[in-house]
Amino acid sequence: MNKVRKAIIPAAGLGTRFLPITKAVPKPMLPVLDKPTIQYITEELTEVGIEEIIIVVSPNSGVIENHFGIAENLEKRLLEDGKQKLYDIALNTRKFNVKFAVQTVANGLAGAILCAEPFIKDEPFALLLGDELLCAEKGQTPCIKKLVDIFEKTGKSVIATMEVFGDQVSMYGNIGYDKEENGIMQVNQIVEKPSVNDALSNNAIIGRYVIAGGVMEKLKKLTPRNNEIYFTDVLDELAMKGELLASGFEGNRYDVGDKAGYIKANVEMALKSGEIGQEIKEYILDLANRI
Ligand code: UTP
Repeated sequence: MNKVRKAIIPAAGLGTRFLPITKAVPKPMLPVLDKPTIQYITEELTEVGIEEIIIVVSPNSGVIENHFGIAENLEKRLLEDGKQKLYDIALNTRKFNVKFAVQTVANGLAGAILCAEPFIKDEPFALLLGDELLCAEKGQTPCIKKLVDIFEKTGKSVIATMEVFGDQVSMYGNIGYDKEENGIMQVNQIVEKPSVNDALSNNAIIGRYVIAGGVMEKLKKLTPRNNEIYFTDVLDELAMKGELLASGFEGNRYDVGDKAGYIKANVEMALKSGEIGQEIKEYILDLANRI
């Protein structure tokens, strides 16, 4: 059966690029404007028909569970004070069917995915990395929706890619492909962060995937390198068997796990905000004249 009912969001990394804030605050709780990044990612899933979201967290990430749970005193107070709009905003964070899996040792992405196995078993799942935001504009198909549609039509695992050039090529997983039809590529090989000369194409893997059922067993069989198992090894295995597709996406991608990407996401969201957008626009124009 090709229906995608579940999604995994691995969000248990150490977030060392954001120290010292990530010493006590989990990276997925860093806000872009007024929302934690993890909420943007759960919102990407609202129109996709996902029934259950499994967030993989590090130990001591109770604050993420609190964010998606009931805040009894706050909700009661907002209602008593007649602050319906703020009440709705607080309530909105409770509409997701979220489950949590704890990754006790941050041993990489494959390890995080395996932590979600009790919820997934051998079902297909959507996989959304916790430190990338994909924002579709009005009229565009959200990236994860596009991947789910492709999977449900073909039954093959599918990954999102973006075009990269020059040195950027070496910062991402890279795909080789046989043929492309209607923007969908038949992947035949994956290389992790290749040198510019070793790159197979200009297509870099980004953090959105739909993975066919049975992958957990494949992950368990992988041979570790440097004490870690690598998710790209499974993707490469699927690619070599002709069981992996790739597709570009519409909209903007923000790498919020990186300081510059995080600031860009905040600036762009602020510009789009009805509340402060005009003020920030005037500020940026004025600032541009001064720097
Ligand atoms: P990153 O490679 O960005 O690592 O993880 P990180 O630990 O979050 O950040 P830095 O590099 O130390 O600053 C990519 C995604 O995979 C998740 C992260 O939470 C992030 O969403 N991840 C990574 C896990 O869930 N577990 C891990 O063991 C590693």
